[in-house]
Amino acid sequence: MTNQRILARDVANHVDSTVTVRGWAESIRRHSKVAFIDLRDRTGITQIVVTGELLTAIQTVTDESVLSVTGKVTKRPQNLINANIVSGTIEIQAESVEVDTLAAALPMPLNDRSVGEDVRLKYRYLDLRSRKMAENLRLRHQMNQYIRQYLSEREFVEVETPTISKSTPEGARDYLVPSRIIPGSFYALPQSPQQYKQLLMVGGIERYFQIARCFRDEDARGDRQPEFTQLDIEMSFTTQEEILATVEELFLGLVTKFFPEKTLTFGESVPRLTHAEVMEKYGTDKPDLRKDTTNPDELAFAFVVDFPLFDWDEKKKRFDAAHHPFTAPKKEYIETFEKQPKEALSEAYDLVLNGSEIASGSIRINQPELQSRIFAFIGHDQRSIDEKFGHIIEAFRFGAPPHGGIAPGLDRIYSILLKEETIRDVIAFAKAGDGRDLMMNAPSVVDDSQLKELGIQLRK
Ligand code: AMO
Repeated sequence: MTNQRILARDVANHVDSTVTVRGWAESIRRHSKVAFIDLRDRTGITQIVVTGELLTAIQTVTDESVLSVTGKVTKRPQNLINANIVSGTIEIQAESVEVDTLAAALPMPLNDRSVGEDVRLKYRYLDLRSRKMAENLRLRHQMNQYIRQYLSEREFVEVETPTISKSTPEGARDYLVPSRIIPGSFYALPQSPQQYKQLLMVGGIERYFQIARCFRDEDARGDRQPEFTQLDIEMSFTTQEEILATVEELFLGLVTKFFPEKTLTFGESVPRLTHAEVMEKYGTDKPDLRKDTTNPDELAFAFVVDFPLFDWDEKKKRFDAAHHPFTAPKKEYIETFEKQPKEALSEAYDLVLNGSEIASGSIRINQPELQSRIFAFIGHDQRSIDEKFGHIIEAFRFGAPPHGGIAPGLDRIYSILLKEETIRDVIAFAKAGDGRDLMMNAPSVVDDSQLKELGIQLRK
């Protein structure tokens, strides 16, 4: 290939020159003396005009085949300019067409959301060719970049925490990973990096964040995936207000930059409402506060604060931590929470957006005695506390700074901003409703030899 590849968005800068463009044949319209190919690359579409002997050469070319086309860039007549495509003012008169690979007939049309979602998930690599999915992934990347920059500028450090680890309670079932070297023992995939980020505070990091993958063995739903992504944040020597203000400025700035067309119900200041207040007024802890719920470009952010410390668990017939057991009680309830658990309020808060819980966090306990009392109250005996949480209680004995944090669920936020109905549409390779990866066909059975090595025998 002599010519350097030119992208669709740049072809119009090469009028009257000969260029090479490469990509997928999105559509081929054949007439008797001429054929038009819409050639797609990551930046858009270029119209290729094929005439003469080349018509025979492209006879077998199918939609979505990969082509390299060399030809002269010509201006289109005024009446044929297509404002809908990046290279709509020009077209390329093909001089050679090389077929890199021929595509078999596609199992689904691209750009058609009426196709069953199972088909889109099975052929996700084709679905990613659609304009909306490609745009969603690109914007997700740009928004992640924005977040990383915003936090880095404020001296937050991104730290990667382990994926095979120990069970940490966030209220869902754990995914377990058997250990080969220590037979009969298991790692758990983290439901969140909660304990690690607190241990980073004990480690003196002071300002941590991570775009972190979390794993929870629960049924998938529109806004729930078994693995999902949090923007995990933790700060030392902080206050609830400092944490909320950091997140508020981050997301309002992000919306202004990427979605200037959107309106904010409460302008530049996100209201702080108490849990008691929203429960009484709206009957839910994630109220949709938009003025007009038919307008998807309206965003109603609100913080809900002063959550109860405990929830009554009807199945287990006892109280459980409402957020998670590392959450600090409000000062005035520290003495009394065992006697009056229902009245006790915590330092926990949520961020809600258009009726969806998009972030949760709290000021944490940093006193080993108080942490042990909470574990004991929610039903752990001393042995269970030592086994499950001994490491963090021990850590708190060596000088734990006061600390707190929050974890926005990025999939949920992005799906609302991108006006998608489910978080699956902002995730490159999402799982189906029953947790299956339809493309890779996972989970799947494994060889007997693998199980044997792990000391695992399946029950009949
Ligand atoms: P929590 O469990 O509330 O808090 O999770 C924080 C946020 O993560 C999102 N989220 C999910 N998104 C998609 N699929 C799921 N299955 C799913 N589960 C949760 C939600 C939620 O608000 N460690 C604490 C945070 C902290 O205290 O700092 C935690 O994980 O948007």
